[in-house]
Amino acid sequence: MSAQNQAENIIKNDDLSAYWMPFTPNKAFKDNPRLIDRAEGLYYYTTDGRKILDGFAGLWCSNLGHGHPKITEAIQDQAAKLDYVTGFNFAHPQAFELAHIIQEQFPGQLNHVFFTNSGSEAVDTALKVALAYHRTNGEASRTRLIGRVGGYHGVGFGGISVGGMVNNRKMFGSLLSGVDHMPFPYDASKDAFSKGEATSDPLVYLKPFEEMIALHDESTIAAVIVEPMIGSNGVFLPPKGYLQALRAITKKHGILLIFDEVITAFGRLGQANGASYFGVEPDMCTFAKGVNNGAVPMGGVVVSSDIYSCFMEKSAPGIELFHGYTYSSHPLATAAGLAAQAVYKEEAVYDQVSARSPFFEEAIHSLKGEPYVEDIRNMGFAAGITIERRGDAVGARAFDVFMKCYELGVMVRSNGDNLALSPILTSDETVLETLVETVRKALRTVA
Ligand SMILES: Cc1ncc(COP(=O)(O)O)c(C=O)c1O
Repeated sequence: MSAQNQAENIIKNDDLSAYWMPFTPNKAFKDNPRLIDRAEGLYYYTTDGRKILDGFAGLWCSNLGHGHPKITEAIQDQAAKLDYVTGFNFAHPQAFELAHIIQEQFPGQLNHVFFTNSGSEAVDTALKVALAYHRTNGEASRTRLIGRVGGYHGVGFGGISVGGMVNNRKMFGSLLSGVDHMPFPYDASKDAFSKGEATSDPLVYLKPFEEMIALHDESTIAAVIVEPMIGSNGVFLPPKGYLQALRAITKKHGILLIFDEVITAFGRLGQANGASYFGVEPDMCTFAKGVNNGAVPMGGVVVSSDIYSCFMEKSAPGIELFHGYTYSSHPLATAAGLAAQAVYKEEAVYDQVSARSPFFEEAIHSLKGEPYVEDIRNMGFAAGITIERRGDAVGARAFDVFMKCYELGVMVRSNGDNLALSPILTSDETVLETLVETVRKALRTVA
């Protein structure tokens, strides 16, 4: 039976077009569907009976593996006890408990949590909080938002406006006004094959930011948002000292600094989050994905005490922030969050990542010299490999490598000319080696 016939048979429907798939070449997929039936631990099981090692932790989110029994049980119990309650004027006790556990893991004054349902919503929430904060604080002229070329901040209008990935922006009109972008903080001609942070001069990338502040005047700028480790665009690390210098510049000019930690929070770098890893305290951090192992959609923003108390003390009586979602702090997402956070702690998962990161680093960099490998970058349990472009076909060869890996029983991810790995955080050395050796085989096979 052809793959399509098999899919149609399983879906019991001869028309695959009803489902418009996200970030997927729909026509190609539907000619050759890849259908996942179930998952357990480190593995997916396909509808045609294949076992696939998950080298991407779902989509940077299933950090503790799939179907973790404690998380599954928590969701089941919660569904039976309280399936839903609005977060507007009501709450359930676990929402406060989870907020407390989350904020404890962020440094310094990052003490208050606003819940959303995704990373995109977390980003839009952080941007809105920044604008509303300055207005409430008597600086309503601070309305500009600054992102970065090559940044990914989800797909809401706020996120694509500050984001810097061209394909995600160019179809969608003029986006938010008053947005500017700092340069991409990585230069492959100098930084290629760097292990961890790049070593070039961070001021090369920050001088244009200072010029931007001079051009617009600090009194017009509300916030800057960056990923501490650029993830979705292919795993790129800014040079050593960049984030610290960015913090100093933003502080000097009264500009809020937002770390988009949707990927980096909850263990990916071997610490609780990027702010802790880099020793930099921004004014807000977004999170999502790993907060509850991706088992039920959830995201959020951790904000500083300065921001929170400004709203509590200076806004008009009544609702302090006219913002929120029907499913903010959804009971099932919260239950999954409490269970996942308990597992992170009990199994010392962040320490496991930290201990195995040097092994992963050596393994992934051993791919240097393999066919078509132009660059390799890594940090914690994240790695990006730039694959030489085939002629003008952007991403075609990287996609072939991704497909070959899948054929060989391993799921990774390709995005443009980059291949990325994001192992499940409990993967041991044998698993990490299998991931890397499968990529090696795939590289040696593609044309
Ligand atoms: C840094 C960053 N921000 C935001 C998002 C968007 O998250 P979501 O897909 O949950 O909306 C992502 C997703 O990968 C991300 O990596």
